[in-house]
Amino acid sequence: MKYVLIVAFLFLKQISMAQNKVDYRPAYHFSPAKNWVNDPNGLVYLDGQYHLFTQYNPSGNTWGHMSWGHAVSKDLQHWTNLPIAMQEFNNADGSQTMLFSGCTVVDSLNTSGLFKKGYKKGLVALFTSHVHNKGKELAQHQSIMYSEDKGNTWKLFNKNPVLDLQMTNFRDPNVIWYPERQVWIMTVAKPLEYTVQFYESKNLINWNLLSEFKKQGDVSKIWECPSLLKIPLENSKEIKWMLAISSGNIQSGFVGTQYFIGDFDGINFSPQTQKEAMFMDYGKDFYAPIPYFNLPKSRPKPIMIAWANNWTYADKIPTGTIRGTYCIPRELSVFEENGQLKLRQKPIKLKGIESRTLTVKAGQKLPNMQFKSNSYVLNLTVNVTNTKGFELDILKSGKEKVGIIYDELSQTIKLDRTQSGKVAFHKDFASIETMPVKISNGKLELEILVDKSTIEIFANNGQSVLSDLVFPNSATTSISLTWK
Ligand code: FRU
Repeated sequence: MKYVLIVAFLFLKQISMAQNKVDYRPAYHFSPAKNWVNDPNGLVYLDGQYHLFTQYNPSGNTWGHMSWGHAVSKDLQHWTNLPIAMQEFNNADGSQTMLFSGCTVVDSLNTSGLFKKGYKKGLVALFTSHVHNKGKELAQHQSIMYSEDKGNTWKLFNKNPVLDLQMTNFRDPNVIWYPERQVWIMTVAKPLEYTVQFYESKNLINWNLLSEFKKQGDVSKIWECPSLLKIPLENSKEIKWMLAISSGNIQSGFVGTQYFIGDFDGINFSPQTQKEAMFMDYGKDFYAPIPYFNLPKSRPKPIMIAWANNWTYADKIPTGTIRGTYCIPRELSVFEENGQLKLRQKPIKLKGIESRTLTVKAGQKLPNMQFKSNSYVLNLTVNVTNTKGFELDILKSGKEKVGIIYDELSQTIKLDRTQSGKVAFHKDFASIETMPVKISNGKLELEILVDKSTIEIFANNGQSVLSDLVFPNSATTSISLTWK
């Protein structure tokens, strides 16, 4: 009898634990079918499909065995996971090669000579070949794989690597086509030297050094995943250039992504004079973004996708058999503010997501409203004239909440995830992040994307953004607003 009771107790406990399990897989953000992902790789558009490759571990939900996972989408919102594009491999000398981050280009002129004569849809992926022997790092160099069937299958180039400086830290190539000189330009990082190098090539295979950009802005962490992109200046016909480098974070001690706006003359990148380091995101969970190559005419602005995680606690987040999701794709442009050029980032237009648009006057309560699920978009305009500020709590349940706090004096938004649910899995996860916001005509405009475990706050039409992960203990949709 005692035995039966114990078994029954364990069985019921199992059931109740299963019921308590909250689903953290986002509904409208990319996540892998299973296992670990970090950086997005090889973002390329071709023939109606947005390809997304991932730093993927085929064997588990922590970092390792880095290979390129693959997914496609028709709209950047709904993703279909496909078989792995390319797996890590063994070398003849007993060492192994992992595929680290990189990019994919469409070689429509067959400059590489890798494709059949006249074929315009050849894809060439340039990635870092990370060679190691049972974990001992031996080399990092840049290599090529290519696809003759629009990304379905991939072949390794037989003369890899294509760029080798005999270094163990040299990685993350990102390549653009520079039509003015009919050359490819590669941006690549020497992480420990806080250096980005620019190379050029006529055929994606032979590369010559053009120039270097080093030790500017944030040098609190190593530099990784650089990219150079053209970006429109608002209200003008002028085109600017942006250099994005994954580095330290404005929240000190963490990784994040800094950017420089400037000009590129085909050889050198010259940044505008800036007073301080500028970061793409004020949260903790936005890293290693890269831009899309070959976007269709219907998308005139550059689009970047980032990994929504932070190396400090990345392999501890309590998401079960999947670990890793990506931020919403962002459309970019440049605007001027007090003589400084700054980045505006807007989420791509989403379809079919529950969304509310609300305007709240100073001191007013939120109207009675209920979201159907914890995946939604809230467009909130708050009149903050003559107020001290407010606290908007979302994902509330018992003592749990995620606080979005506006302070009028400092004109900042704070995201407080200290009581957001599961926070104890890493000592540095519970935190409060701060971003500056601009008030215009007494109004604060927030576009808040909530998707189960991801929160992205776009303030004032994308002038500042804060992205953070949270892990509530229930799939609550409860929300409230209190004035200070
Ligand atoms: C950035 C990074 C890259 C590297 C990859 C390895 O998150 O460290 O520099 O290529 O991850 O997975």
